[in-house]
Amino acid sequence: MNTPDPVQHTVQHSVQLQIDGHAVRVAAGTSVAAALRIARPAGLGITRRSVTHEPRAPLCGMGICQECRVLIDGRRRLACQTHCTDGMAVDTSA
Ligand code: FES
Repeated sequence: MNTPDPVQHTVQHSVQLQIDGHAVRVAAGTSVAAALRIARPAGLGITRRSVTHEPRAPLCGMGICQECRVLIDGRRRLACQTHCTDGMAVDTSA
């Protein structure tokens, strides 16, 4: 019996989005919050700034805390509740 190659599956089922203008490729089904975390080594993990300009990041992961608000294709959305799609533009500067 053949089992699917998990690496090949991931390559074939991935999406590319832009996070603050930087291209990031992730597996299909990845949340925007996870994509932000994956992108963190490039300095892109922050979702927004507080009113005192402190960096904020996903906290609860289930749509309650609102710490993961970002602009996705120009609309304010929760990163933890949104799946990445091909061509999606995420803006953490708003
Ligand atoms: S991480 Fe709390 S609402 Fe998204």
